Amino acid sequence: MASSTSKPRLENKVAIVTGGAQGIGECIVRSFVKHGAKVVILDVKDDQGELVCQDLGSEFVSFVHCDVTLESDVENAINTTIARHGQLDIMVNNAGIIDDPKLNILDNDLAAFERVISVNLIGVFLGTKHAARVMIPKCSGSIITMASVASITGGCTSHAYASSKHGVVGLAKNVAAELGKYQIRVNCISPM
Ligand SMILES: NC(=O)c1ccc[n+]([C@@H]2O[C@H](COP(=O)([O-])OP(=O)(O)OC[C@H]3O[C@@H](n4cnc5c(N)ncnc54)[C@H](O)[C@@H]3O)[C@@H](O)[C@H]2O)c1
Repeated sequence: MASSTSKPRLENKVAIVTGGAQGIGECIVRSFVKHGAKVVILDVKDDQGELVCQDLGSEFVSFVHCDVTLESDVENAINTTIARHGQLDIMVNNAGIIDDPKLNILDNDLAAFERVISVNLIGVFLGTKHAARVMIPKCSGSIITMASVASITGGCTSHAYASSKHGVVGLAKNVAAELGKYQIRVNCISPM
């Protein structure tokens, strides 16, 4: 068991949390800071993200506006993090959206399906790709993606959400198989 004098587990670590302005992402940000990490929040909710920074202290948390569906935004956010802190140790692909569960496939329209896939799957692909870009040269890092119980079950959520959450697990397995040789860990967490 860790003693009260042991050093914080994430001391000298730099983390990015997408969708860190609220919800589970915000909780991850708070927990990482508590354990000694410097954290950069990427989100589209600028005001909420800035509030979290003010609450925790700008020396520990900063905000970069980033729509995870846009490669230019994700690339810029990773580059800004490196410019600010010189390293990226932990990438948390947490940003996600959920849509109405239209259980009849005939009621599902293409645009709504693509929107969920765009944030929940393509956003994770872009976050993983650009985190890997800066982690590979260091031969170190941890990429964590927020999956879901919908990653392994059917019939509980919308078709788009279930597809996106199954997809991120497949992506994580594939990237883990590739990046292991660089000592980069790739994992998913599946909240209920
Ligand atoms: N809450 C749950 O019960 C639950 C269960 C299983 C999985 N999850 C997953 O956990 C993650 C977080 O869920 P939550 O409940 O905290 O959600 P939430 O809606 O409270 O927060 C999601 C955050 O992502 C941000 N976001 C949305 N689209 C974005 C985009 N295009 N670019 C950048 N940021 C964007 C939002 O602004 C928000 O701050 C999601 O991936 C979700 O699918 C949640």
